[in-house]
This record gives sequence, C-alpha cells and structure tokens, in this order.
Amino acid sequence: MRPDEIQRRATELGPWVNGFEYDSVTYPRDTQVAPPRVGRALPFFDVFPDATRILELGALEGADTIRLASRPGVTVVAVEGRADNLSRASFVLGLHGLTNVRLVHADVEQFDLRSLGRFDVVLCTGLLYHLQRPWDLLRSIADVSDGLFLSTHYWGDADTTFDTEGYVVKLVHEDHPEPRTRALTETTLWFDRPSLLKALTDAGFGTPQVINERVAPSVCDIVLAARRAHQTVAGEQGTSAGPA
Ligand SMILES: C[S@@+](CC[C@H](N)C(=O)[O-])C[C@H]1O[C@@H](n2cnc3c(N)ncnc32)[C@H](O)[C@@H]1O
Repeated sequence: MRPDEIQRRATELGPWVNGFEYDSVTYPRDTQVAPPRVGRALPFFDVFPDATRILELGALEGADTIRLASRPGVTVVAVEGRADNLSRASFVLGLHGLTNVRLVHADVEQFDLRSLGRFDVVLCTGLLYHLQRPWDLLRSIADVSDGLFLSTHYWGDADTTFDTEGYVVKLVHEDHPEPRTRALTETTLWFDRPSLLKALTDAGFGTPQVINERVAPSVCDIVLAARRAHQTVAGEQGTSAGPA
C-alpha cells in the first residue's frame, strides 16, 4: 500500500491514540493527550524468552501486539474491549502482514478467557486498574496460563482505601482525558501494593519478579513477571512457589 493510501485509510479509522510506523514512514497520532506509556512490555521476551503462545489483554491499537507477533514462531491472541481500537489494530497488523494474531473484541470482566485455550504467558499492561474486580482477572489469567507479565498502577495512599473481599482498594472514578484508553465502567478499584501481591498469590502465582517500580504518594506503577508454582522467571534462581 502506498503512503498516501495508508494515510487515507488511517484517517478514516482515526483518531489514533498511538502513532504507528510502517516502511520508514511515521503516521502521527491525532490527539494532544499523552499516549499510554510506551515500552512497558519491552522486557517481555527477556523474562519469558520461550513464550510462543501469548494472550494479550487490553491491546488498544496493537502497538505491543506487533512487537510480540513479529518474533518468529509466536502466535498472539489479543483481546480488546473497544471495537474502534480493534479496527485500528487490525489495520496496522494487516499492513505488517502479520497473520499470526487473532483479535477478540471482549470485556475481560464478562468474557471467559478459557474459551481461548491455554497460553505460555499472558501480557496484561495498563488494564488491571481499569477493572471493578481486578482479583477476578488475575484468577482468570491463572486459569489459562502459568506465566504473567503485568504492568499496572496501584494505590499508595492508605488514608483513602477501604477493604473489600479480602483486599485493600481505592475507588477511582475514570476521568482520563483520552476516552479510548479508559475502563469500560465509570468506576474502578485499584489495589494497594500488599493487596496486589496477595491477589497474585490467591490466583496461584509465586513471588513475582519486579522489573520496574515507581513508588509515589498516591499513583504508583509496577511492572512485574510472575509464574505459577514450580516455575522460575528467566534470570532468577528459584522463584518461591505459590499454591498450585
Ligand atoms: C491504558 S490502555 C493500555 C493499552 C496497552 N495495553 C498499553 O499498555 O499501552 C487500556 C486498554 O484496555 C482496554 N480496556 C479497558 N477496559 C477493558 C475491559 N474491561 N476489557 C477489555 N479491554 C479493556 C481499553 O479500551 C484500552 O485499549
């Protein structure tokens, strides 16, 4: 496809949250709002070098999907809750000629992930804090995979949290200026740090490998890799095992 045709089609499908690059041409994003932080999934294959069957949750416009699916031997199932995001993802994947990706339009809080089969690793970046019952998603992930690469916010201010279902959480009203990256619901629950770790344990994951973390008075960020019992994350000497 020629650059002017790509641009015409991109304009039809836009506005775009992320720009994309194809054949050395950069097609710009269409919004002033900062995009989701790029690069959160970059260390994915460093910690899960043998992953070939990957489930990606909250795929947006497919930026990480392309990176994953471009690795030889990999197949990706990418789930996204907004149909228009998925249309843009489908377009860029098609441009790159990537046929090893299945796109699924679904709300991860309503959809049974088991219907998609089993996976080596689940990639979940920028999604867990967009949910009403984040502990349920971690359990659903554990139902389909022994590996998890997670990037999420957690809440750092103990004065504004409350207890529910055995977890300490913060009620957050979704008001991000970019509506296409928001939750599908108006409110969400964010774990505090101990409850995030407890929810991982409750789902059957062992002690996670923290890849990156930013601690702040309220909005904190963490990138981690976790494996279910009896498995280790690359580079670690014996991750402690949680219940099977
Ligand atoms: C902040 S963006 C993160 C996108 C990408 N994973 C990244 O890290 O850059 C959140 C994405 O999750 C999607 N999303 C939010 N709630 C969802 C849900 N319940 N089920 C499926 N997708 C959801 C949004 O539409 C959006 O594409």
